[in-house]
Amino acid sequence: YPLKNHNTFGISAFAKEFVRVHTVAELAETLKENQDKKLFILGGGSNMLLTQDIDALVIHVDLKGKEIVKNENGYAEVKAMAGENWHEFVQYCISNNLGGLENLSLIPGNVGTTPIQNIGAYGTEIKDTFVCCEAMNIATQEIKTFTKEECQFAYRESIFKGTLKNQYIIISVTFRLTTENHKINTSYGDIAAELTKNNIVVPTIKDVSAAVTAIRQSKLPDPKDLGNSGSFFKNPIITSEEFEKAYLLHPTMPHYTVSDTEVKVPAGWLIEQSGFKGKRFGDAGVHAKQALVLVNYGNATGQEILDLSKNIQETVYKNFGIRIEAEVNII
Ligand code: EPU
Repeated sequence: YPLKNHNTFGISAFAKEFVRVHTVAELAETLKENQDKKLFILGGGSNMLLTQDIDALVIHVDLKGKEIVKNENGYAEVKAMAGENWHEFVQYCISNNLGGLENLSLIPGNVGTTPIQNIGAYGTEIKDTFVCCEAMNIATQEIKTFTKEECQFAYRESIFKGTLKNQYIIISVTFRLTTENHKINTSYGDIAAELTKNNIVVPTIKDVSAAVTAIRQSKLPDPKDLGNSGSFFKNPIITSEEFEKAYLLHPTMPHYTVSDTEVKVPAGWLIEQSGFKGKRFGDAGVHAKQALVLVNYGNATGQEILDLSKNIQETVYKNFGIRIEAEVNII
């Protein structure tokens, strides 16, 4: 079964078997019936790089539905099923005057993937509005509700990428959003600049969403036009000592203080300074407008993208003594 249309990198790879499930009951049944098989869970395919065919039964989680489950004291809780497209869900919230997700507009993928890596952009992370998620245990088909604390969110991290990796399938996510007095977050410089450009002084959640959308469209390639998985690498968090050492040699290095002992450096800068921005190797390349994004110009294999990513990691390490780690799941 071809997976090219099931991964935003547009990699041509095949699954041994493929099944799409539309309901929670169907999901449980499919898991139960195929216990002896190797299974692979697929959501929106927006955060993975396929480097080989998948010798397993691929289960495409296509659960749909969204509803406002609570509405009181200026807040509403909204529950969305895992297979809902993320950006459409964000737009649904904005058109219902629900605030909190607008900075996360236009992120590719589905709702069910968002807690796995605690998606974030423009000063907001999913954990800021997350209430809980329901997830099905693959082995027992039991449904467990995970609170925010249980998810152990950190920068692009959660328990679902850590100790519970490959053990649960997220089936729904619930967010707590504002219905009035929205907490507009324009702390990220790019947003403020975009709003000023449009003469917007008191922005609404809709304005912020439009600003984020415009910024993303100007920098990040649309997977429909150019295969990609967003940021391929995480921004490295290094110790203050490591940073001081690198900074002495490279005094223009941008950086953000994370804690008393840690500093975050933009990987995009390290990659750009290493000469990779806009470079193309066959059909694998580094995006010309954002060095953190690797792209597939058409027929790159996952292995070619992976080789490019390793080349980048080694060169960045040689130049700066800093290791950058993939954000994308390498399959
Ligand atoms: N930079 C460069 N060259 C580049 C790209 C970036 O020098 O080609 C430097 C600049 O100094 C720039 C800084 O990096 O000021 C930050 O760049 P940008 O604002 O584009 O953000 P980012 O750190 O590259 C992160 C997220 C993005 C998110 C943006 C905006 C990660 C791994 N990436 O990128 O998330 O949209 O901030 O908040 O944290 C994603 O995860 O898929 C993603 C796109």
